[in-house]
Amino acid sequence: MAVAAVVFDLYGTILTIESMRTHVAAAGIADAGTFVANWRRKQLEYAFLTSMAHAYRNFDELTALALEHTCTQHGAALDAARRAELVEAWRSMPAYDDVAPALRALAARGVQLAVLTNGTPVSANAALEHAGVRALLTDVLSVEAVRAYKPDPRVYALATERFACAPRDIIFVSSNAWDAWGASHYGFRVAWCNRAGSAPEPLVPPPETTLAGLHELDAWVRSGVWKPG
Ligand code: LAC
Repeated sequence: MAVAAVVFDLYGTILTIESMRTHVAAAGIADAGTFVANWRRKQLEYAFLTSMAHAYRNFDELTALALEHTCTQHGAALDAARRAELVEAWRSMPAYDDVAPALRALAARGVQLAVLTNGTPVSANAALEHAGVRALLTDVLSVEAVRAYKPDPRVYALATERFACAPRDIIFVSSNAWDAWGASHYGFRVAWCNRAGSAPEPLVPPPETTLAGLHELDAWVRSGVWKPG
């Protein structure tokens, strides 16, 4: 089967959200792991909420508002400058160790590689540059173009438009189970990169495959998923 591109989610799939724990702990917040998990959950909740209400605000703004909420929830008194530093740190997240080898292996087969993210173009590109993997990607596609968030089908359509192909010609890779479902529903072939060992979503359609990490991606592709044209 021909594959036009392999398209990746960004935060949590390529970039390590867990790395924020160090910044949060340095800001004097106790239980940084729980704090970061709550911050991320609220950030996504705001993305779903503003998308459903047709009240788009960009992901940097939602990240800042979610931080404000999480600080209140945790009784953490951070001033505006400190909060701005934490939001800025999203632009310097390291990539997971398995990312560069996986991207290089796919690139060696001549496949086009892209990111499709809720993030703003500026933040996504800055983070990918900082993580040293931007040059391995042909495109960084952002929801900003449609002012709605995943799993709105208009977001996934950015990839089919860019690569002028049908949804089945794209392999989409995400660590977020809800994003994997949204992409499967849109019609992409999906690899759920279940880094956290989360329970699968019982929603159908399920992802085509589940990987423990991106180190398993190339072997899955080589197993006959994709024959380069
Ligand atoms: C993204 C978020 C959902 O990069 O992880 O789109």
